[in-house]
Amino acid sequence: VSAGPTYEDIDPVRFIGNRSSGRMGFAVAEAAAQAGAKVTLISGPVNLPTPHGVDRVNVRSARQMCDAVLAVSGRSDIFISAAAVGDYRVEARSPTKLKKTGKPLSLELIQNPDILAEVAALPKRPFLVGFAAETKDVERYARDKLERKKLDMIAANLVGTDLGFESSENALLLLWQEGSEDLGQADKKVLARALVERIASRFHTSIDKVATE
Ligand code: PMT
Repeated sequence: VSAGPTYEDIDPVRFIGNRSSGRMGFAVAEAAAQAGAKVTLISGPVNLPTPHGVDRVNVRSARQMCDAVLAVSGRSDIFISAAAVGDYRVEARSPTKLKKTGKPLSLELIQNPDILAEVAALPKRPFLVGFAAETKDVERYARDKLERKKLDMIAANLVGTDLGFESSENALLLLWQEGSEDLGQADKKVLARALVERIASRFHTSIDKVATE
């Protein structure tokens, strides 16, 4: 399970980050461990205690998160990508604190690796569950990500000023190739348990399908 934001450093004191608190991903890791899974939680910079029975790896940037995820994905059955991964990083991080010049400052941003895409390309890829954080047209954008990122399942949430990020509650819409289920709005821990249950069920269906082919 990945969780939390990533930070992309601009200089030794500044970074580009996002509003993810890690709560959703930590709740998923906890629910999976409670359901009997052996869980590795790869976490961006957050202020949360490690859930009981979970192995935790701390990272800062998207590239560090990608390396940590790839290090365990080859021997994992399921990867749940709840982290809000920075899509871009500063191309040339300044080794010293940037000073004010009185002129506009331009930062050249380059794209980070897409972690889910890298895991999807592994020869023995795990069952892949992504999240989609959208500010509008949640279902349409999430279904597009399900296809484009070759996911087995996606949990879509509407994010905004008081929604999705940071708060203790969330609302999730689950989508997979042949169907969908609205898990509604609830505490993130409650949603995480429902999500883990649905993932386990679809994971077992996918194994049974492979076994009978
Ligand atoms: O942490 P909280 O405060 O509890 O908030 C929870 C949450 C809103 C962060 C969480 O529920 C959520 O939606 N996480 C995914 C946020 C996100 O980055 O969504 P996205 O639509 O930009 O990305 C789609 C998927 O691709 C995600 O599974 C993401 O982890 C993955 N991704 C994105 C970029 C990238 N470079 N690599 C990726 O693997």
